[in-house]
Amino acid sequence: MYDYKIAAADKATLYRDLAAALEALVAGEPDGVANMANAAALIFDTLPGVNWAGFYRNLGGELVLGPFQGRAACIRIPFGQGVCGAAAATRQVQRVDDVHAFLGHIACDAASNSELVVPIVRDGVLLAVLDIDSPEIARFDAEDEAGGVRLGEIMARAI
Ligand code: SME
Repeated sequence: MYDYKIAAADKATLYRDLAAALEALVAGEPDGVANMANAAALIFDTLPGVNWAGFYRNLGGELVLGPFQGRAACIRIPFGQGVCGAAAATRQVQRVDDVHAFLGHIACDAASNSELVVPIVRDGVLLAVLDIDSPEIARFDAEDEAGGVRLGEIMARAI
């Protein structure tokens, strides 16, 4: 049993502890699906105010739903569509305070109001995106973005 109880006083510490737990969780495991599944569970369980956390994989230039925690979600997202598709097409982190104001946003769960999407790139190849959603407007700040990028770097070596 893995029992990671992360309770940090500030965000920097929270993401440092979360990254350390994720490193430990994926260490030595070559199966990307297993690692994405555990990563989604750990992130969802650790970050407060989150209603969806998981992965879309780049399968032949289309994003296809991967392991996640939260409500059942859209299965296929073309590059360039929605927040995830924008992250895949631009390879830039997308931090959106109000998804309803984001042109082309794909509403998988009507409860989601803000979103953080981190591209996962290894050796110049986009492997997947990490998508984290919140019902709170502007849930994610620059510290969440930096923390999310760190998690994405760990996953780039684990999938
Ligand atoms: N809202 C996302 C779709 C994925 S779900 O939120 C899980 C988007 O616009 O890309």
